[in-house]
Amino acid sequence: MKLLEEYIRTYGEVPNDDVLKVDAFLNHQIDTRLMMQLAEDFKEHFKDQKITKIVTIETSGIAPCVFLGYLLHVPVVYMKKNPSKIMTDDCYHTNIHSFTKDRDYEIVISKKYISSEDNVLFIDDFMANGEACLGAIRVLKEAQATICGIGIVIEKAFQSGRKQVQALGYDVYAQARIASLKNGTIVFAE
Ligand code: G4P
Ligand code: NA
Ligand code: NA
Repeated sequence: MKLLEEYIRTYGEVPNDDVLKVDAFLNHQIDTRLMMQLAEDFKEHFKDQKITKIVTIETSGIAPCVFLGYLLHVPVVYMKKNPSKIMTDDCYHTNIHSFTKDRDYEIVISKKYISSEDNVLFIDDFMANGEACLGAIRVLKEAQATICGIGIVIEKAFQSGRKQVQALGYDVYAQARIASLKNGTIVFAE
């Protein structure tokens, strides 16, 4: 997506060879005009799917999903990370290992908000090694929901996420694909 690539070129920061910081429009400050454009792009890409629900993981996936949910007239459910004791609903959950942050975390979703009736579009802001996406797939499968699409805002194509997810038989649509961040230079994949 050209507009997103422009934002990444203009506002993206590369603190090291592996990480792209996009706090200016996605991970801290949120550019609402861009979020709407991302939503329009996902809507167009997944227009043949009968989506009943959009699912993401807190926090940064929520912003584009809310715009998309509004456009598609469907609810957005975000999986919670490391839920507090206040979360007493009956839940599906799984543990995820983050290589980037070198720690494990749990994601949960209440059984109230996901079921075998749902055709889910899963969206996340970043895909690195794909662990978050694989965890979300495990949870959605346990809920017997149908996964009708996986959409990612920014894919780091030099990491293994896409390969892992495709190995399970799911296609991944990414709005921007980063081929390399070496030496502070952002290179997009074709
Ligand atoms: P993986 O699920 O694809 O294996 O990713 P990983 O554990 O490596 O990433 C952990 C967190 O770091 C995720 O966000 C992910 O979105 C984010 N992340 C990974 N690589 C990058 C990057 O290059 N740039 C930025 N900006 N984020 C990256 P999180 O912190 O768990 O969630 P959130 O609260 O930000 O949504
Ligand atoms: Na995220
Ligand atoms: Na993130």
